Amino acid sequence: MKIAPSILSADFANLLQDVKEIEEDADLLHIDVMDGHFVPNITIGSVVVKALRQYTSLPFDVHLMIENPDLYIEDFVKAGADIITVHQEACVHLHRTIQRIKGHEVKAGVALNPATPLETLKYILEYVDLVLVMTVNPGFGGQKFIDSMLKKIKELDEMRKEMNLSFEIEVDGGINIKNIKQVVEAGADIIVAGSAIFESPDPSSTIKEFREAVGT
Ligand code: DX5
Ligand code: ZN
Repeated sequence: MKIAPSILSADFANLLQDVKEIEEDADLLHIDVMDGHFVPNITIGSVVVKALRQYTSLPFDVHLMIENPDLYIEDFVKAGADIITVHQEACVHLHRTIQRIKGHEVKAGVALNPATPLETLKYILEYVDLVLVMTVNPGFGGQKFIDSMLKKIKELDEMRKEMNLSFEIEVDGGINIKNIKQVVEAGADIIVAGSAIFESPDPSSTIKEFREAVGT
């Protein structure tokens, strides 16, 4: 299991300090980009990603919650993204968008909102490096995990086996020490957590506790 702390719940006035606190324990840094159109919140853009890039070697897992992601892929690649994930719901020509990301030699992911069925990914799964299953409606940190998404994660894991594919399953939203084990048992490879890590008194110990809870 990989852990990807989401900086959405970090202290933006002390962003680098918060990143440094989790750097040794995290596997990836999850960066939530929101445009105020695809989701009802605005966060950060490629300039912040670029600024952080020079201070950490953690892989950058960029989650684009934006309309027209094709227009910004190159900016995020240049800023230092290692993985770029776009939403199925934001891409009319998803195959083209995924190819565009992979053309830059970064990993390509596709994200699904809670209400979007897995079947919409049937013809794209063979081209992606990861699938991000949203377990809250995107836009904000600190929301409650939607329990019915456990079934969705399991079904995606089954589809992966049946299709003999090796994309990673990333799960994002409402994950904490109480539910992390269930999420991993359902089939998740990468766990995103924002508030549970950065709003805890000791983010680095919280990541260690997450690993203990899962037994890895
Ligand atoms: C929500 C974001 C998440 C968010 C998760 O739209 O995509 O990455 O930061 O935050 P928590 O872990 O607090 O639900
Ligand atoms: Zn996210």
